[in-house]
Formats: sequence, C-alpha cells, structure tokens
Amino acid sequence: MDKAFALYGCGKAGISVALALKGAGWSVAGCGSRSTASAEAGAQWLACPLLKGPEELPAGIPLMIGVPEQALGEVDHEIASRDQAIQGRIVFHLSGAVPSRLLTRCRMKGASVGSLHPLMILPDPLAGALALRSATFAIEGRPEALAVIRSMALAISGKCIALSPHSKTLYHAAAVTAANHLVALLWESQTLLARAGVRPEEALPAFQALVEGTVKNIYSSGPVASLTGPVERGDATMVKNHLSALKRWPDSRERYRVMALAALSLARRRHPERYMDYDALEKLLS
Ligand SMILES: NC(=O)c1ccc[n+]([C@@H]2O[C@H](COP(=O)([O-])OP(=O)(O)OC[C@H]3O[C@@H](n4cnc5c(N)ncnc54)[C@H](OP(=O)(O)O)[C@@H]3O)[C@@H](O)[C@H]2O)c1
Repeated sequence: MDKAFALYGCGKAGISVALALKGAGWSVAGCGSRSTASAEAGAQWLACPLLKGPEELPAGIPLMIGVPEQALGEVDHEIASRDQAIQGRIVFHLSGAVPSRLLTRCRMKGASVGSLHPLMILPDPLAGALALRSATFAIEGRPEALAVIRSMALAISGKCIALSPHSKTLYHAAAVTAANHLVALLWESQTLLARAGVRPEEALPAFQALVEGTVKNIYSSGPVASLTGPVERGDATMVKNHLSALKRWPDSRERYRVMALAALSLARRRHPERYMDYDALEKLLS
C-alpha cells in the first residue's frame, strides 16, 4: 500500500495528525487504542478499519503512536510483543519531550523508530488538523524513519526541523518557554495592571494591541531589533523606580528582575556601544 500508515492511540494529537495526513494524500490503514470507545471514535473520524490490537497491523506500513508520554513504555512493549511484522517497520511517536530511542523494545525487534512532534496545540481533531497545515514539525529518529516522517511533515505543512536525540529535551524546554511561559508572562502583566487599579476584565484586553504588535515585530524584524523600553534605553532611574514600586510583591519583583536581565542581554547585542549604561543596569539588577 503506497503512502499508508496506521495509528495506535486515538487521542487529540493522534487523530489530528492522522486527519491532516489524510488531507495531504496519505491513507489510514487502521487505528487502535486502549479503550474500544476511543478506537471507535478514531475509526469514525478517520473512516478507517478498527484494529483490535497490534497483531492486526498490516505489514510494511509505518505506525504512528499517539499515546501520552507515561504510556509509551507500556505501548512499546505491547507492540513489540504482539506485532508479527515489527521487523523493519517504521514506528514513531508524537511526543516532543522524549526521544524515539525510548521505544526500546520495538527497536530491539528491528523496527526503525522516530518521533514527529507537531509544534501546535491540538485541542480536538478538526481544529487540530486545520491548525497543523501551518505548523512546524520537529522530527528525530533513525534514518529510515526520518525519511518517512520528514515526507509526512512536508506533505502537511512544508515545515520541519530535524533534531538529534540528545537535544530533544532542550528542544522541548524551548517550546515550553515560547508557549507556556509566554502565557505565564502575560498573566503576570495582567496581575500587575490589576494591582495598578485596572479592573481584571479590562486588564487583559488593555495590552492586546501592544502584545500583538510586539509579536508581529519579532517575526518581521527579529528579537534584537524589536526590543524597546527602559532597559534598551539604559534608563537605570526608571528601572529603579519599577523595582521600588514592586517592593510590596517580592515574587513579582523577582520575576521583573530576572526578565529585565534577559532583556539586558538582548540590549547588549543591539547597542554594544552602550556598555557603560548597561553595566550600571546590570549592577542594579544583580
Ligand atoms: N494535544 C496536543 O496539543 C499535543 C500537541 C503535540 C504533541 N502532543 C503529544 O501527543 C501525545 C498524545 O497526547 P494527546 O493530547 O493526544 O493525549 P490524549 O488526548 O489524552 O490521548 C491519548 C490517547 O492514547 C490512548 N492511550 C493511553 N494509554 C494507552 C495505552 N496504554 N495503550 C493504548 N492507547 C493508550 C488513550 O486512550 P483512551 O482514550 O482509551 O484513554 C487516548 O486515546 C503526547 O505525547 C503529547 O505530548 C499533544
């Protein structure tokens, strides 16, 4: 069967990626999961045969594993012991946090393992499949697996980055910083604004245009050129005033201090000639 794959673990990510692959010309040879309910839901979404277990996997097609990280060990064991055609099969998971070599048993039985991590939030199959058309995929694994999952990523969105197994955790920390920590940072900003007397329901939208404009600048001009504000200007008096206004909330003051130091290292790249102002700021912030 040309350009076909099977899915094991019919959750949000598995079905979203499988649907996106279907839209990009791949066919789904079958899907299975832990519970009958989720396997049936998968089969319905993907209009594909329902597999009762790994022993029903058609030979010679790649297998995508869509289970959470904590279930990968158990599923690896289940597939390796029940799939009669595991030798030479391409088996890949969707986690960004762990490398594919974690699929130890499949690997020992001769499978070529990999991972395909969509850099996207996949809340449900349909929204997920649509969002994936513009997502970058991080891929990693054995050369045979890499060739197939690269072609999958390119078919869906045309965007992928290749990682070494050793850099997978660092890569995941970077993704968490960009997505989750950005949420925390905006929450912090909303909290400070509420402390300044702005009603909570006004605090979040008040900064929307500012935040969106900043993000737009970053993607058009890069982070160094997008940095503005008191740190970039080397305005120690203003930064000192901020720290003093934050004295009542030591946790917020600490978060401000750490982020200001991060901004300072960007500012140094932008204006190396301002090193004397920046040295004074660093002293104030350290
Ligand atoms: N959702 C996202 O935004 C997203 C984005 C990128 C990557 N990912 C990655 O995708 C993977 C799956 O995440 P998810 O959000 O799709 O999780 P999920 O919605 O909770 O789905 C997990 C699926 O795996 C099945 N499963 C769990 N344990 C199993 C086992 N031992 N054997 C067979 N099937 C099992 C579950 O079956 P039951 O329904 O029967 O419990 C469920 O269908 C994770 O590695 C995650 O990091 C997720």
